[in-house]
Amino acid sequence: MIPIPMHRRGDAQCPTDLVLLSHPLAFIANNNFCVRRVCTEIERIIGSEALDREAAQKVLHFLNEDLPTHLRDEAEDLFPHMRRRCPPEDKIEQSITRVMIDQGAASALLPRVRKILTQCLEAPGVPTAPEAEQLVQFMTHVQRHLIAETAILLPLARVRLTTRDLQSMSLRMKTRRQFTSGDIFC
Ligand SMILES: [Fe+2]
Repeated sequence: MIPIPMHRRGDAQCPTDLVLLSHPLAFIANNNFCVRRVCTEIERIIGSEALDREAAQKVLHFLNEDLPTHLRDEAEDLFPHMRRRCPPEDKIEQSITRVMIDQGAASALLPRVRKILTQCLEAPGVPTAPEAEQLVQFMTHVQRHLIAETAILLPLARVRLTTRDLQSMSLRMKTRRQFTSGDIFC
């Protein structure tokens, strides 16, 4: 099997290495990997008898700092480029709509999820049964968005987006993270 180069798939490290911002699709793919890891941590928190504070803090940090920016990368950069580049036979609008419905639902639940985890850290304790149910709902939407992106959107983006599209995405994603052109261009 021919190995996939790192700049195409990410390096499976969390948090995502900012050097990958020069390869925006790899950056998004790697961030999706981190989202998956966060879901695994939330599952572990739900199933445990005592709170793993370090895990809860890491999850909370990701939800506060990384996830909102990741969702903006997709909604404001990836999806518009795909709408412009994909031919009708890709039925891209259908796939984007599907992902955005789950992203919207996950975003709506995000404040509640943050509150549950913050309370668990303050108490300290593990989520109650109703809280666990809300965390599961959040993860269901997040995981559905991951499946559609990994199976449909990112493979199509690798084929359809042009070098200029990728350069534009890279620049905007760096700017979103307040990097200037001298910082991490490579
Ligand atoms: Fe994503």
